[in-house]
Amino acid sequence: MTDSFMVINNREVRFEPGQTILEVAGANNIEIPTLCHLKGTTPTGACRICVVEVEGPDKLVPSCAEPARVGMVVQTESAEVIKARRSILRLMLSSGNHNCDIKDYDTKDWTQDQLRLLSGETPQELCPAWGDCKLQDLAFKYQVKAVGQPLSECKYPMETGNPLIVRDFSRCILCGRCVQACREVQVNNAIDFGYRGADAKIIAGTDVSLKDSDCVFCGECIQVCPVGALFEKKAKNGARPWETQKIRTTCPYCGVGCQQILHVKDGTIMKVTGAEDGKPNLGRLCVKGRFGYDFIYSKERLKTPLIREGETFRSASWDEALNLVAHRFSKIIDTHGPDALAGVSCARSINEDSYQMQKLFRAVFKTNNIDHCART
Ligand code: SF4
Ligand code: SF4
Ligand code: SF4
Ligand code: FES
Repeated sequence: MTDSFMVINNREVRFEPGQTILEVAGANNIEIPTLCHLKGTTPTGACRICVVEVEGPDKLVPSCAEPARVGMVVQTESAEVIKARRSILRLMLSSGNHNCDIKDYDTKDWTQDQLRLLSGETPQELCPAWGDCKLQDLAFKYQVKAVGQPLSECKYPMETGNPLIVRDFSRCILCGRCVQACREVQVNNAIDFGYRGADAKIIAGTDVSLKDSDCVFCGECIQVCPVGALFEKKAKNGARPWETQKIRTTCPYCGVGCQQILHVKDGTIMKVTGAEDGKPNLGRLCVKGRFGYDFIYSKERLKTPLIREGETFRSASWDEALNLVAHRFSKIIDTHGPDALAGVSCARSINEDSYQMQKLFRAVFKTNNIDHCART
């Protein structure tokens, strides 16, 4: 196969047939901003923030959807490109409730401006994505403000009727990443674009609430939303990104071993996200892995073994509890034989624990009465 070359920002670069301009640029450390693009899914070309200038009649094309061609000459930050990106950003900021102060800031000192905002009287009213928003970042990068009052009021109220996910339609930029994630990453097909023009909205099912739709609350849509239109109810404004320690760990719920990131502030988990570079999940999580961390802080959580005495239980040390269990098991085996024992391991255990449990039953107790609750 002959090598394929194109020119980006006056530099000749090689590409593989089938790659988009965005992919070729990325492979050559040339940054092009994106909003709707979701790696690994079909490009939609919805937001057009990734436009680049191509020599020839087409001029501005969305780089995330345009295939690279031999001899193509591309500029990624020309005056035309910047003008187009600024007008897209202005339109997005002006057509929604973007109260993060990027809307009408009056300074070029980002840090000072954000500190001033945080010290205000109502920081809790701030957008939950403040400090972690691609639209905010790009608006600052390209020095874009909104035009006064929103062009139209959002007619859809915030959806807060389930315990896990809040949908704030007033901040949605209709990039469609959530739809791509739901459809192509998690293959749940719970949400889609609905209505047209100024009424356009991301709908669940036939425009019902998430809890009445096919949504399984995996939360993948939250993870990919570039702005504050989707967020974890439990995490709302609990911590800004720079306040949390990011701790990588393995999900404790089942043997799949999904890699996750705990966002921890002052020793408390504020939210959980999937580790994008970690196998086997590559960023995906299920409802348990993403939202099921509250048990750690439950007052009802058992922290010591309990031994039954009549109708009540008393706390015991691990040594005492294990000695008691070993003694009782030995007695049953001596009296009735090993097949009088049976074990069911837990689907929440990791594979290694389940393996050790069957070893204990087969090799130590000498019975094959061992099963796993996932089979039920
Ligand atoms: S979505 Fe982004 S731009 Fe809009 S208010 Fe929130 S942080 Fe600001
Ligand atoms: S939580 Fe999961 S299933 Fe529900 S809409 Fe989001 S991506 Fe789809
Ligand atoms: S909810 Fe978020 S990800 Fe979905 S279309 Fe709106 S802005 Fe994009
Ligand atoms: S990122 Fe390319 S069109 Fe949105």
